[in-house]
Amino acid sequence: MALHRLTSITMGVPNVAETSAYYGDFGLVPVADGWFTTRTGGRQLRIVAAPTRRLVDLHVGVDDTDDLARATGNLQRLGLNVQHGSGWIRAADRATGTVAYLEIAPRLTEQAVPATQYNGPGRAARTGDRAPGVLRTAPVRPRKLGHAVLGSTDFETTRAFFTEGLGFKISDHIKGAGTFMRCSTDHHNVLVQAAPVSFLHHTSWQVDDVDEIGRGATALLNKDPARHVWGLGRHHVGSNFFWYLKDPAGNFSEYYADMDCIIDDQLWKPEIWADIRALYSWGPPVPGSFLAPDDLAELMAAAHSS
Ligand SMILES: [Fe+2]
Repeated sequence: MALHRLTSITMGVPNVAETSAYYGDFGLVPVADGWFTTRTGGRQLRIVAAPTRRLVDLHVGVDDTDDLARATGNLQRLGLNVQHGSGWIRAADRATGTVAYLEIAPRLTEQAVPATQYNGPGRAARTGDRAPGVLRTAPVRPRKLGHAVLGSTDFETTRAFFTEGLGFKISDHIKGAGTFMRCSTDHHNVLVQAAPVSFLHHTSWQVDDVDEIGRGATALLNKDPARHVWGLGRHHVGSNFFWYLKDPAGNFSEYYADMDCIIDDQLWKPEIWADIRALYSWGPPVPGSFLAPDDLAELMAAAHSS
């Protein structure tokens, strides 16, 4: 039938204990063997040891063996080696080295969380009580893994791997620099962008609303203000509210809410963005370290020597 969700990712870092503690603070729940769970998505992040920070692999849920067979043929047509197991296949992107698994997995059943009541002009949706966003006290816990963003030294090859090979759909383009792709009804599950070295730029985690983004980021910053990267803002491409924070290995992690949803492929027209909207609609000015992370030279040197 189809790809239906981004199941999980494996992140390699040199400082596993420190980075794991960060994702606990971020609201993911540590379980066994380096795995972390989200509220709805189950096991979605695994942290393992690696010489430098990187995306080790990415898992995508599919419905059935027909999906695996179709992707196998498509990946082989790209000249890639495909390995098989019971209910899964895997292949590696030539440009980034990222290993992608397609695996037969149940579709995610997302219970509808009631819409937060916001008052507006002539519209009192909430009366006689303070806003939920100021009354909530429980730590923020993301609902699910939304997307991963990869820097690639050859983004067109990486895009072909995801689209022509694995079967992701294209949602939007950044002119000459990147492509937003989906394997679910979310606007994007993977973004690949041109970079001088292949690396994991960020992972993004869904929370209930913009208040949860603010509460989650504030809790992380209260522990360590140096974790701040960029936010609060709203992206234009994908429309989501965002706040980016940095883990101790240097990967960015994003809380997001209110992302565009594409149910009917025929009704969505991918566009090519060449101006500031490729980055955001509103928010603080984009910091240089978001575009070129502080450890980029270090990652390039490590890639060169390996
Ligand atoms: Fe993002």
